[in-house]
Amino acid sequence: MAFKRPKIALIGGGQIGGVLAQLSALRELGDVALFDIVEDMPQGKTLDIAEASRVDGFDVELKGTNTYEGIKGADIIIVTAGLPRKPGMSRDDLLTTNANIIKSVAEGIKEYAPDSYVIVISNPLDAMVTLMQKYTGFPANRVMGQAGVLDSSRFSSFIAWELGVSVKDVNAMVLGGHGDTMVPLVRYANVNGCPVMEQLVKKYGDEAKAKEVMDAMVERTKKAGGEVVGLLKTGSAFYSPASSAIAMAESIIKDQKRVLPTCAYLEGQYGVDGYYVGVPVVLGANGVERIIEVDLDEEEQKAMDVSVNAVKNLVADMGKLGF
Ligand code: APR
Repeated sequence: MAFKRPKIALIGGGQIGGVLAQLSALRELGDVALFDIVEDMPQGKTLDIAEASRVDGFDVELKGTNTYEGIKGADIIIVTAGLPRKPGMSRDDLLTTNANIIKSVAEGIKEYAPDSYVIVISNPLDAMVTLMQKYTGFPANRVMGQAGVLDSSRFSSFIAWELGVSVKDVNAMVLGGHGDTMVPLVRYANVNGCPVMEQLVKKYGDEAKAKEVMDAMVERTKKAGGEVVGLLKTGSAFYSPASSAIAMAESIIKDQKRVLPTCAYLEGQYGVDGYYVGVPVVLGANGVERIIEVDLDEEEQKAMDVSVNAVKNLVADMGKLGF
């Protein structure tokens, strides 16, 4: 039997999709199929990236496609298809539009890549992952969402900038849903094992001031997506969401078993049963291989419960809309 490169299908060739294609090539993760409903655009983007292969030194094939046939046999799929909110559009209008898109994407994936692993980025994230699993009918370990890796990277960056240390030494995690109710885990945040709060108290010589600084970083993390939107004026963050999903895909393709915060299906863990919520998981050759449970104190569990309720409401809203 001949060896075969992994095949990565990217559904949605917009801002994030384009960066995903380039990062997949730069890291030689596998051959890339970029799908979009806009004619010629994914073909143009992949041709552009492929023409840099000599300069960047990668040996993978990149193809653009407007039909699901083009994703045939994909091993791993990253989904960014969807529409952003337009002026005058209600939240329910957006939910209905994107839910219909995800439903059609799920049907395409089910038919042409029935053995694939699927990472969803499209918003509202927790709802779209739920639908992807429902309409593909794939086992939950093969369907997950990207949010926590990015939220945690943002939180870690703010901590590194505040303490003047390498971000490589910062470990900070964000759990819960992908929205205002996300839960940055302050108590567990550390710089190579040294608790961040302790370092802040040492820096400011004052517990109240240290808490104030941490609270500001937590707030900035929760609103980080909006901060970027406000600066870009059109569109939302795309470099960092792409990098985050690539880290997840790489851990699965290379069976790295990295522990990454992932929107995963919970069956009793963290007191949640039957919902997709952001928690640390082991990502390896079998997708979501294990959910890691960390002990939460009363305040953290309360914040998690609020976040989980927001996810439940979103899923209930989708049910009312017929999904
Ligand atoms: N099938 C495939 N692609 C679709 C479909 C569909 N049914 N409907 C729309 N698309 C494509 C659009 O043509 C567009 O190229 O999805 C792409 C989305 O790209 P952008 O609008 O540039 O959005 P992007 O910034 O990439 O974000 C995508 O990720 O973070 C989330 O909130 C963000 O939901 C959004 C998604």
